[in-house]
Amino acid sequence: MKKEQVVNCQFSVWYPIFKKHTIKSLILPLPQNVIDYLLDDGTLVVSGSDHNTQQTHTNNSDSDAEEDVQWSDDETTTTVTAPEFPEFTSKVLEAINALGGSIFPKLNWSAPRDANWIALNSSLQCCSLSDIFLLFKSSDFITHDLTQIDLMPSMYVITSLHCVICPQLVLRKWSELIPGGEFRCFVKENKLIAISQRDYTQYYQHILKQEEPVCQAIQDFFSQHIQYNFLDEDFVFDVYRDSQGRVWLIDLNPFGEVTDSLLFSWEELTSGGELNQHQEGPAFRYTTSEVTVQPSPCLSYRIPRDFVDLSTGEDAYKLIDFLKLTKSQQEECEEEEEEENAPQ
Ligand SMILES: Nc1ncnc2c1ncn2[C@@H]1O[C@H](COP(=O)(O)OP(=O)(O)OP(=O)(O)O)[C@@H](O)[C@H]1O
Ligand SMILES: [Mg+2]
Repeated sequence: MKKEQVVNCQFSVWYPIFKKHTIKSLILPLPQNVIDYLLDDGTLVVSGSDHNTQQTHTNNSDSDAEEDVQWSDDETTTTVTAPEFPEFTSKVLEAINALGGSIFPKLNWSAPRDANWIALNSSLQCCSLSDIFLLFKSSDFITHDLTQIDLMPSMYVITSLHCVICPQLVLRKWSELIPGGEFRCFVKENKLIAISQRDYTQYYQHILKQEEPVCQAIQDFFSQHIQYNFLDEDFVFDVYRDSQGRVWLIDLNPFGEVTDSLLFSWEELTSGGELNQHQEGPAFRYTTSEVTVQPSPCLSYRIPRDFVDLSTGEDAYKLIDFLKLTKSQQEECEEEEEEENAPQ
């Protein structure tokens, strides 16, 4: 895989080419102070001041104050004031409103898919810059995008007058995508060689029932709108087939190990061997029974389930156990103190 292929799969490169066939989006350059804030390990604090007043976001002043408190690991508690980016904040809010009030955030290549657990709604849906910051600062995928840009040779960063790779915030109109309608398609030498169910950890009966029409709709979409229109001849594209059978482009990814090959292996995809021995056209793979259902690949990025249950109070028994434990520890401490203070 060449560096150009990675560069070409940036959102700002492919979006103008396929704009008509994908979800409406806006791109904003990330200012240096915002990049520094995102890469700074120390401050997770996000300002509550940018909340989108046109939305139904309720944020009373008490909870704002709570958000500004950061716990340090030594005994003292420090209050860290969240950095403010007034100009950038208003640009982001304007863009969010232009996209209907809620968006899906990304950087040049990646979305913070590994951080959805931290959001209140456990989703990547954002209505304000602080929603975006919370996800971005909790995501290894986002940090990877930002550091990747730093590592790119300077020839890719500036050519002639314009910046080829600059860190960019991508805001995409929020769309309720049903995971069973998503597929990843592998293109080699401008030929669609393979299609995989995207959410391969789940079994979707409708894919099994509609194998033929799904595969045909994706092939038609490829030959009518994608084939020969992209800058490379090897690439991977993701699609969504909606309830009316219409196919939409979701993303473009490099053809190589950096992209998850899902139900195929990169060895199979690159070896040149025949993937589809039975018939013409791409090999189509999907999960065929409940038996093969696997845990979601992003689970390992989460904090332990117990922590989440405790923080939300969702699991009452865990909370009770935790409170009992805390109480008994407190009692032990008090007893020790009493012993220490007891007259000799
Ligand atoms: N506009 C949107 N609204 C709601 N959900 C979306 C939107 N765009 C993408 N998604 C969901 O988020 C998932 C990840 O999106 P996307 O493919 O853009 O991220 P990515 O970081 O490029 O992922 P990968 O690393 O697998 O290439 C999609 O599979 C889809 O389920
Ligand atoms: Mg992608």
